[in-house]
Amino acid sequence: MNNNILVIGASGQIGTELTLKLRQIYGNQKVVASDIRNGNYEVMESGPFEILDVTNKDDILKVIQKHKITQVYLMAAMLSAIAEKKPKNAWELNMNSLFNVLDLAREKVIDKVFWPSSIAVFGPSSPKQDTPQLTVMNPSTVYGISKLAGESWCAYYHDKFGVDVRSVRYPGIISYKTNPGGGTTDYAVEIFHGAKAHKSYTSFLSENTVLPMMYMDDAINATIKIMQHEKFERYTSYNLAAVSFSPKEISEAIKKHIPDFTINYKTDDRQGIAESWPQTIDDKQARKDWNWEHKVDLDELVREMLQGLHFAV
Ligand SMILES: NC(=O)c1ccc[n+]([C@@H]2O[C@H](COP(=O)([O-])OP(=O)(O)OC[C@H]3O[C@@H](n4cnc5c(N)ncnc54)[C@H](O)[C@@H]3O)[C@@H](O)[C@H]2O)c1
Repeated sequence: MNNNILVIGASGQIGTELTLKLRQIYGNQKVVASDIRNGNYEVMESGPFEILDVTNKDDILKVIQKHKITQVYLMAAMLSAIAEKKPKNAWELNMNSLFNVLDLAREKVIDKVFWPSSIAVFGPSSPKQDTPQLTVMNPSTVYGISKLAGESWCAYYHDKFGVDVRSVRYPGIISYKTNPGGGTTDYAVEIFHGAKAHKSYTSFLSENTVLPMMYMDDAINATIKIMQHEKFERYTSYNLAAVSFSPKEISEAIKKHIPDFTINYKTDDRQGIAESWPQTIDDKQARKDWNWEHKVDLDELVREMLQGLHFAV
């Protein structure tokens, strides 16, 4: 069967590695990368790459028709810290992109969609520990509001129009190949750059701020696994968990490899966003419904990051 895939937002932190992994599984020509800007050299050279604006439905349609696309992974979005500075732009990008892709699925131009939500759907009144799949959700950030609205629209399109859309709530994603795109968990990537380049880092979150995190490989595996699963009867944006730690805890783990590493703290606006989010996530529904399991713990994550970054120490 002809199953061509389009990744929108393929120049971003997750889209870059997702595209490369999908090409490894399905073949380079079967996976079309797209973004509003150029991206990683390997992504642009190893298979088809298209410039498109996801807020323009005709742009998406042209690429879908040109490459006979059947599945879309919609990774383009404005992330939490930037969205606080540009609320209307964030709302327009995060919602219009989703409507465009859901409408193309409703019109049967494509038959399967992946759209990521986030732990940002939870808010100050949500339980902080083992945050359940379904609980009080009162996001206090622009980004969280857009993700919670997105989840409701996905459920609506699934129930009313039979659209096959699948979704997970990513925690903070940690990777070394592409820089993060302006989220509140970015410190957990920047700290490795600081550790490798000058054995020090100043964290914009305070030392005991615990947040849920995940190594990129686990995030990519979850994304592909949920798309490969047989059709779900109900739409759910699944909680996903892997590791939770604070800046202090990750700095201790880095010190096992770089003993003279030092960390300082100078908090900014992102501290308030972090404090509104859960610390640990209960993902037993994903583990039960589609056998999700994470593989990378904190020590392995730190080892992979320090090995992967090629700065001189
Ligand atoms: N990275 C994380 O820690 C994290 C955590 C939770 C959820 N998510 C979600 O995962 C998805 C991917 O996140 P990411 O970290 O890779 O984001 P990112 O910011 O690194 O990448 C987003 C990409 O979208 C592209 N883009 C922006 N506007 C566009 C437009 N109009 N048309 C086409 N492309 C456009 C950008 O150029 C960028 O390459 C997003 O939906 C994000 O909300 C990410």
